[in-house]
Amino acid sequence: MSADNQLQFTVERHPNPTPADKIAAALVDPTFGRVFTDHMVTIRWTEGRGWHDAKVEARRPFQIDPACAVLHYAQEIFEGMKAYRGAEGKISLFRPQENAKRFRASAARMSMADLPEADFLRAVEALVDIDREWIPGGGDGSLYLRPFMFASETFLGVRAAAEYVFCVIACPVGPYFKGGKSAVTVWVSDQYTRAAPGGTGAAKCGGNYAASLIAQTEASQKGCDQVVFLDAAEHRWIEELGGMNVFFVMDDGSLLTPPLSGTILPGITRASIIELARREGLKVSETPYAFDAWQADANSGRVKETFACGTAAVVTAIGNVRHVGGEFTIGNGGEGEVTRRLRTLLTGIQRGKEPDTLGWVHYVA
Ligand code: PLP
Ligand code: COI
Repeated sequence: MSADNQLQFTVERHPNPTPADKIAAALVDPTFGRVFTDHMVTIRWTEGRGWHDAKVEARRPFQIDPACAVLHYAQEIFEGMKAYRGAEGKISLFRPQENAKRFRASAARMSMADLPEADFLRAVEALVDIDREWIPGGGDGSLYLRPFMFASETFLGVRAAAEYVFCVIACPVGPYFKGGKSAVTVWVSDQYTRAAPGGTGAAKCGGNYAASLIAQTEASQKGCDQVVFLDAAEHRWIEELGGMNVFFVMDDGSLLTPPLSGTILPGITRASIIELARREGLKVSETPYAFDAWQADANSGRVKETFACGTAAVVTAIGNVRHVGGEFTIGNGGEGEVTRRLRTLLTGIQRGKEPDTLGWVHYVA
């Protein structure tokens, strides 16, 4: 700690960083989450001592004991955010303070150490800075950042761990859906739910994703890209997708999205779309919407468009919906006009092509 109580990061550069030609090759159409940059940031927390040992260093495997708490009781949380190379090569993050805040909320829900927002931000910025050559320029590319934290104590007792590791890694990415599809097909799970009232649905913890995988596998078997989860109590109300929030565009031009009921992730893209749409003069309501209403409204034309949104998926139209009783199409099955307009606006702000009147763009020096 320095005199002003800020963590000091030691920086040890990779002794053999990836040469420029190899980085350039890695940036051509990378598969989401397969290619990683040279460095990582770590900070440790121990009960009684707090946060310490902040480091930027060469990316390397962790050494953990077989009794490491996270391997048994899954105390793990993460974030997903992106660094962009915009006009004139300027590097930026999109609303990173919101990720820092959500990370604290996830940590609180999972009884984990509380990382101050300023330290979260400095860790993310330090990694973006040292691995800036890995940020794709132009097109749909960006550097996906994955801050995460896990219980690192060697102990099998069931209680909140007394030691944690916070880490940030990064990977260059293109579109999340293979081939950059303009519309995806979703599977509505009739059997599995993602989160229940009082559970961890609003936290970004690994366990939520582990529980969703069986439904995601089922979706893939049905030829679908993502799962739509319904509420746990009535199995009726649309909640969100496995890794994205969802919006419906009605025939009067208004937008509808499920409310933050505690069982869905409060997406930063979701919040941004709500604000942008309202600024564009569109009515947005955060209202429960039933699956049978969606089906009837898609068939009658009352629902014109549906889209998924999130950091990885950005804004992606949902063209077809499969469920245990059959299948239906939204609009003409492609990307609708409102979806396109909002996607263009959001990505324009993120990439410095549209004015940032809401102060969402955070430049990395
Ligand atoms: N819902 C789930 C389950 C997610 O995993 C994500 C992605 O992070 C989102 C929603 C969208 O959140 P955000 O827009 O903050 O990326
Ligand atoms: C993200 O969008 O950052 C997520 O974590 C979702 C996942 C589909 C990668």
